[in-house]
Amino acid sequence: MPSQALVYARPSSRTAAYLDFLQMLTGVGLILFMWSHMILVASINLGPEAMNALAKFLEDTYMAQTGGPFIGVAFLLHFVLAARKLPFRSLEQKAIWQHSRRLHHLDTWLWVIQAGTAMIVLIMGSIHIWTILTDLPITAAKSAARIQGGFWLVFYMILLPMIELHVGIGFYRIGVKWGIIKRSNRPFYERLENALTLGFLIIGAVTLYTFYNLAF
Ligand code: HEM
Repeated sequence: MPSQALVYARPSSRTAAYLDFLQMLTGVGLILFMWSHMILVASINLGPEAMNALAKFLEDTYMAQTGGPFIGVAFLLHFVLAARKLPFRSLEQKAIWQHSRRLHHLDTWLWVIQAGTAMIVLIMGSIHIWTILTDLPITAAKSAARIQGGFWLVFYMILLPMIELHVGIGFYRIGVKWGIIKRSNRPFYERLENALTLGFLIIGAVTLYTFYNLAF
């Protein structure tokens, strides 16, 4: 039974709907950013000149300097909005675990994976954004040196699958929640989600391999 104070503090259903909508908007924005980010970073596969030219363009037009902090804020806002539904207390965690095992449904497990990866992405993503934005300009040589140092290679080998799972499942769940994915087209979107996740994992792995082997 919730305490009286909690009942009074509960937002109206209209506020809850606006917050859900904002959560979806920040999620869509971050998914689009992440897809673009992976493709931009993958420009290193075309050679250091291609990556340097892109980075210079983003900095000359101030897109990196203004867009970077903007992404950082969207990232935090998205977490705060999503945290309304996350089970932080051990009793809540026990309940969601028992429900997931009992329901034995793929979408419930996808939610559990998304909540778990969210924590890792929040911490590692913030460290990564801070590291890159406090060491501008972005150059192929600096990125390669970071990755060849070893620490960042391992860091990205963990962050890459975490963010791709989070983004792929997020894309699918937004579709289900907002009625785009229905019972009839669900198998198609499940396959699309798997293909996107796998595709970006391959692009990311190839990019890391290229950075690791780049000689200057
Ligand atoms: C402010 C925005 C961001 C900028 C400017 C940025 C920039 C970069 C750069 C330059 C690299 C190349 C490696 C390096 O230099 O160390 C990189 C790699 C990477 N970034 Fe970001 N990043 C941003 C946000 C994010 C976010 C929010 C995530 C996920 C939470 C992320 C995940 C990754 C991953 C997984 C890699 C490894 C790439 C790969 O495997 O191909 N980045 N990023």
